[in-house]
Amino acid sequence: MDNNQKEYKVLFVCLGNICRSPAGEGIFKKLVEDKGLAHRFFIDSAGTGGWHIGELPDARMRQHGARRGYDFNSRARKFDVQDFDDFDIILAMDDSNYNNIMRLSPDLESGQKVYRMTDFSRKYSYDHVPDPYYSGADGFELVLDLLEDACGGLLENILEQGNDLRK
Ligand code: 4NP
Repeated sequence: MDNNQKEYKVLFVCLGNICRSPAGEGIFKKLVEDKGLAHRFFIDSAGTGGWHIGELPDARMRQHGARRGYDFNSRARKFDVQDFDDFDIILAMDDSNYNNIMRLSPDLESGQKVYRMTDFSRKYSYDHVPDPYYSGADGFELVLDLLEDACGGLLENILEQGNDLRK
């Protein structure tokens, strides 16, 4: 199906597109698949930096994800101004990602599509998803905990509360 026909287009964004945002993409994809809603969503991820273009997610992120039943298998790409047109909601992992995305926003309406991932947290009070790149195993587990929680909150917000984030 043409992506433009999908009801809801969601983009996860971090710095390198090899740790946090591919995990967000994979977790949200599995969530909507498990609920039989995959046909309604187009889900992707991107990085504000271009160092890892074409790469699979970081091996540590893949390994921690696999232990929870995820297969993070996207290829890294750089966030592009076209993404403001192509997606309904853009989720930044931290303030630096948020500011880098907003700097590229061509108009008010585009900027209104940008949220922080942790805006949708239910049980955690973090205001960002910490970059795990230079952390140990705990950092990767924390990313998964925060993303599983916030992805659930995001889907709830989109579906159950009938809150159309595109407005
Ligand atoms: P991510 O983590 O933004 O969650 O993908 C990082 C990956 C790579 C780098 C920084 C953060 N890096 O500097 O290469």
